[in-house]
Amino acid sequence: MKSALAFALIASVSAFPGMDLGFRDTAVFVPGQDVIRVQATGSMDNFILRSSSPAGLDGTAMVTQADIGGTPPLFYIAPGSSQLMLFVNATTLLHVNVVNNTSPEKWTRGHPAHVNYDPEMQPIPLSPLQIPLQIAFSRKAEGIRTGEWSWLGTLLRFELPPSATKALGVGSGRQSNQGVFFQCLDAEGRNGLFTNLDPSFTPPGCSVVTLHSYAAVQKEQRRHREL
Ligand SMILES: *[C@@H]1O[C@H](CO)[C@@H](O)[C@H](O)[C@H]1NC(C)=O
Ligand SMILES: *[C@@H]1O[C@H](CO)[C@@H](O)[C@H](O)[C@H]1NC(C)=O
Repeated sequence: MKSALAFALIASVSAFPGMDLGFRDTAVFVPGQDVIRVQATGSMDNFILRSSSPAGLDGTAMVTQADIGGTPPLFYIAPGSSQLMLFVNATTLLHVNVVNNTSPEKWTRGHPAHVNYDPEMQPIPLSPLQIPLQIAFSRKAEGIRTGEWSWLGTLLRFELPPSATKALGVGSGRQSNQGVFFQCLDAEGRNGLFTNLDPSFTPPGCSVVTLHSYAAVQKEQRRHREL
């Protein structure tokens, strides 16, 4: 956490085009941090990523409308790091963890993660790459700790390097979600956020979303201008 705080600074953040989300009230900024916007195909609404818990507490990722539920949380990937962090305040950061959540009762109500949820059809076992992974927030790094978060332009990706896929026994070579995430109802009826490493497979009962940050692009552009 110390290294993350070392480059925390007081700055006025340049407004991105779009609606005012009110987060400029926050006094401390880490370069590149931004709200994470959630885009669903065909959706015109303004959705963002939030925690299911009050600020600073462990929780799961939730997709909500930007203007509901108070100040939107800010996220960033520290330079030289592949860990996505949720910024709470100058003294509190949460790890964005990818948890291998194969337990049906924890996941979509009535939609077990590993079978076809249509009762008329034979259950279809999922491959390890198709098994949903849930996005959660915690003070500790948990879940698949060998995974890597990165920005591809504005698009957020989660990947396993070849060493990690080998260690986890999920095939060989790099595995990537290619920026594909899923919004699925969790056991509490919330819009939870999930992913898997086979982006061609949408778990039953879920819809495809992508996650975006514009600060990540602005930072890249600044870096190029400075070169
Ligand atoms: C930062 O947030 C945490 C969790 O909400 C809180 O306990 C702490 O007092 C806050 N620190 C500051 C400096 O505001
Ligand atoms: C998630 O857990 C399942 C069941 O234990 C396993 O088959 C799969 O390989 C795991 N996926 C990852 C990415 O670790």
